Amino acid sequence: MDEEPNEKGIHQWLDVDEFPEHLKKYWHQRFKIWQDYNKGIWMTEDGWFGVTPEPIANKIAAHLAESAPKDKTIIIDAFAGVGGNSIAFARSERWEQVFAIEKDTKAMKCAKHNAKVYGVDKKIVWVTGDCFDVISRRFSGKTNVIIFASPPWGGTEYSAEDVFDLTKMEPYNLNKLVQSFSMHSKHIVLYLPRTSDLNQIARYAPEGKKLEVTHYCMMGASKALCVYFGDFNFDVDETEEKSPA
Ligand SMILES: C[S@@+](CC[C@H](N)C(=O)[O-])C[C@H]1O[C@@H](n2cnc3c(N)ncnc32)[C@H](O)[C@@H]1O
Repeated sequence: MDEEPNEKGIHQWLDVDEFPEHLKKYWHQRFKIWQDYNKGIWMTEDGWFGVTPEPIANKIAAHLAESAPKDKTIIIDAFAGVGGNSIAFARSERWEQVFAIEKDTKAMKCAKHNAKVYGVDKKIVWVTGDCFDVISRRFSGKTNVIIFASPPWGGTEYSAEDVFDLTKMEPYNLNKLVQSFSMHSKHIVLYLPRTSDLNQIARYAPEGKKLEVTHYCMMGASKALCVYFGDFNFDVDETEEKSPA
């Protein structure tokens, strides 16, 4: 795409010499993060730390498409960032509506543009604002909504500990996320650090039930995990779906 960003803080880095030195590792990973990077992806500096790499975003979108109850027709990407997950949800074509909420206006501009690069910008409803506020204003009382949330993990130091303490996640800890979102949907998916404390997560399992936790890997190594709250069905037997010979 020819369109170039014309706002400070939004970049279309196509040349390694222009790329910020402190982010260099992301330059080497750019095609793993965005397969269509050279078609004109826009990024903010912070966007690199949080963006969900395209293969992982696609896998999550596929898992959600397969496992979510059929009567759930709206997916909300509560922390849309530069668009990684929203784009994947729109491309999966599973949802009647994909809502992308993001409070940072520059990240939001990148997300909209990146969705255009992938040909799905018109399939997403874009809302700039605070997700807790937007969700309670627009989705209160709705029963057909799934909330996907890839919150900030509190900076780049999250991987320093062997086990990541979700009570200390900044600026929203696990309890804040679960409490706030569960007021509006029983179907919530949280994208969290791969080292997240599973004992802390298990405390939110309904009595007598388990929560599904899935690790998402690239090149054999886990990059992050998703916790699925609600009635997701991961036991789809593919042989059952085939018609009898
Ligand atoms: C980890 S990033 C999300 C990355 C996204 N999944 C992607 O692929 O680009 C978290 C994002 O949440 C945004 N954010 C933080 N607090 C928010 C809030 N209360 N409402 C909406 N967005 C928020 C940040 O600006 C940041 O862009």
